[in-house]
Amino acid sequence: MKQKNIFLALGLLFTAMLAAVGCNGKSNVSTEEAEKPTDQPTQVMANIDAANLLTTVCYACHNPKSGSHDEMLAPPLVGIKQQYLNATEDRAGFVERMGAFVTNPSEEAALMKGPIGRFGLMPKPPVTDEQIKAIVAFIYDNELPAPAWFAEHEDEMHGTDKN
Ligand code: HEC
Repeated sequence: MKQKNIFLALGLLFTAMLAAVGCNGKSNVSTEEAEKPTDQPTQVMANIDAANLLTTVCYACHNPKSGSHDEMLAPPLVGIKQQYLNATEDRAGFVERMGAFVTNPSEEAALMKGPIGRFGLMPKPPVTDEQIKAIVAFIYDNELPAPAWFAEHEDEMHGTDKN
């Protein structure tokens, strides 16, 4: 079941990415274009790599498809992202701060202490520092999926009126 969800998420993500690449008119990167001294094709590759790693590595625990709050192995990244957006000034600050935690998870580097108490400290993920930078930038640049229960949970947590 979990496995199936991961494949589903991957499929959706790929479709979304292809659409995004297509819209930018970068879908037909010819060999000729790829050899131009521009970092755009590299950037596209880094994005695809980051999106893949996010779903395969990060979502193994931060799975936005978890059926309920109780099934989560880690807090959803969509909520974590919001905390980091609130705590940092700009993209560079966001990438730096989140990158520092993911590269070397520790209680001191964590923005939120609550989840550590509930889930235990996140282990260092099996990716390189370069990949972490790309993943974290990808998180900043893209809208992340929220679990179905998330909005309700947020309301409960922050007492938003739901009428
Ligand atoms: C083995 C499970 C696991 C994997 C894999 C994992 N995480 Fe986590 N992550 C956690 C848990 C548990 C927490 C909550 C406890 C904590 O903050 O350490 C967490 C917390 C976080 C936080 C918030 C820390 C804070 O500042 O409070 C970020 C950011 C994060 N993860 C990013 C990532 C990214 C990016 C990846 C993929 C490269 C990833 N995680 C992979 C389990 C995981």
